[in-house]
Amino acid sequence: MKISISFIAATLIIGSFIGCNNTNTTDNSGATATSVKKDSAGANKGIGKFTNIRLTHPLDDSMVVRGKNLYDSKCMSCHKLSDEKLVGPGWKGVTDRRTAEWIMNFITNTNVMLDSDLVAQQLMVTCVARMPNQNLGDDQARAVLEFMRQNDGKK
Ligand code: HEC
Repeated sequence: MKISISFIAATLIIGSFIGCNNTNTTDNSGATATSVKKDSAGANKGIGKFTNIRLTHPLDDSMVVRGKNLYDSKCMSCHKLSDEKLVGPGWKGVTDRRTAEWIMNFITNTNVMLDSDLVAQQLMVTCVARMPNQNLGDDQARAVLEFMRQNDGKK
């Protein structure tokens, strides 16, 4: 117990320097993760029903537009499109640091991920906030993912 409290304190201190978008993965946290092996450099798909998202090229323009509208109405209050933290991490680079499956599972299964996915838990510690479930449907989450891909310069 002592160890995990001091880990959290250390992460909070580190987090205040590096900002919320840097995951600064330290694998020996006190958190118990059920199905997480490593950060997105590996193939962490998060926890949820999405195990195989097919990304298309070129981007689907109508999804990008729908995704942007959803961002404007439901996400913008906490997420910038740059790499700057607001309440949550800035979205710049999110499609590079996370798999598509992780992002989809996180958006649609937020509470389970925050309770059990090691990467999500670390974000929660560095952000000192817990993202509320936004109640997006699968199609809406997929549209937001397409908008994130566009924001990251994907074609
Ligand atoms: C009330 C603030 C808030 C709102 C609104 C919000 N988020 Fe979040 N989001 C967070 C926080 C805080 C985190 C970091 C994890 C945590 O601490 O819960 C986060 C993390 C994320 C992440 C992971 C980012 C990364 O760098 O890995 C994604 C993806 C995400 N949010 C998507 C969304 C989407 C999509 C919406 C809109 C439908 C949304 N969020 C709305 C606060 C919010």
